[in-house]
Amino acid sequence: MNVLIIGSGGREYSIGLALKKDKKVTKIFFAPGNGASDEIGENIDISDFEALANFAKSNSIDLTIVGPEAPLVDGIVDVFKAYNLNIFGSSKLASQLEGSKIFMKNFLKKYNIPTASFIETNFLEVASKFIDTLSVPIVIKADGLCGGKGVIIAQDKKEAKDAVKDMLSGESFGKAGLSIIVEEYLDGYELSVFAICDGENYKLLPAAQDHKRLLNGDKGPNTGGMGAYAPTPLIDEKLYKEIEEKVVKPTLKGMKENGMPYEGVLFMGLMIVKGEVKVLEYNVRFGDPECEVLMPLIKSSVFDLFYKATNGELESLDIKMRDEYGVAVVISSQNYPYKSSIASEIIVDEIILEELKQNAHISYAGVSKEDGKLYATGGRVLLCIGIGKSIKEARDRAYLMAGQVHFAGKHYRTDIAYQALR
Ligand code: AMP
Ligand code: GLY
Repeated sequence: MNVLIIGSGGREYSIGLALKKDKKVTKIFFAPGNGASDEIGENIDISDFEALANFAKSNSIDLTIVGPEAPLVDGIVDVFKAYNLNIFGSSKLASQLEGSKIFMKNFLKKYNIPTASFIETNFLEVASKFIDTLSVPIVIKADGLCGGKGVIIAQDKKEAKDAVKDMLSGESFGKAGLSIIVEEYLDGYELSVFAICDGENYKLLPAAQDHKRLLNGDKGPNTGGMGAYAPTPLIDEKLYKEIEEKVVKPTLKGMKENGMPYEGVLFMGLMIVKGEVKVLEYNVRFGDPECEVLMPLIKSSVFDLFYKATNGELESLDIKMRDEYGVAVVISSQNYPYKSSIASEIIVDEIILEELKQNAHISYAGVSKEDGKLYATGGRVLLCIGIGKSIKEARDRAYLMAGQVHFAGKHYRTDIAYQALR
């Protein structure tokens, strides 16, 4: 089977790594991939959807997997389906679950799926009035995609109203902020839960926790994610059940009822408040770095999981997970997330320790290759992933691996998975 993976990050690299180990997979292509993904497959430099679909046709691609949200929101799945191609991802309509926070919140409300109370508006006065009824902090969200920056958590009412003003005027996020959500602040702990969906059926993956802040102890600015681990012990059978009954099932039912059956991966950003689940947001893609710890934990065929989801055949699939834990530590460049850094060569020491060779690896993200040498060119450069029988063992291995990687300006958190090890 031939597979095409759309995207260039560590997430797509980790999907490629998992597929490469799958006996069913013959050849992997990345569009566009990164400086290291050409060691797993072949990078192709095509971004136009029609041209990609033509490439898939002429290269006998059996399955295309879409990594990032932008092509999904822009309708890549609809184009591929028009060509009768198998593609894993959500349709343009269904991708509104991530592409429009207003769509998402109204959907949650309509189907009685637990979430923070909110209003949607394009008027400063309406927002101000609602802000006056809330206690602080107060959450303001731009409707459209803002590269993960569209959420402001205001510590007082003036800050909240100023944020509203800046969004509605187009100053903060352009068009994406002309409509907004104002919502109550939820105080609890966050989980990332992923359901692979075929429009009707789903398979739930073990819950992960992300670390969004740049610095240890969850300090510093928000980032795309500085590390993740899974499965987290902060969830039990009862909570999984509640997530399935109160979130996953009504979501799939509601999307089908709305004429936009949900296929692809449903990423539920959840807040657990006093043992009760609330949906913070949906994403229509895998989390990054969550994907990098989940992929190596899947024991059964990763190809089958994605392929069957594109054919409405998930119900008959028995997905098996390894009885182990994964920890991913993101290594970022010096100025991340503020600005880009000078490209620097990446050196990885030869791994001698057998235990490390077997139970740790690197997922490359923001890297490029020149004259056979690898350079750190992106914000999140690479991830060191450790697998182990306990979270501690997995974490120790991830950090041992991180010690083998060198480039100028290398930065990483040293407390990934602390929530599980306290
Ligand atoms: P979102 O893009 O909606 O997931 O928001 C980004 C981050 O903001 C989340 O991962 C949470 O850490 C935080 N956040 C969003 N909404 C809320 C809320 N209602 N209460 C508390 N924190 C929130
Ligand atoms: N790690 C969170 C995200 O991908 O949005």
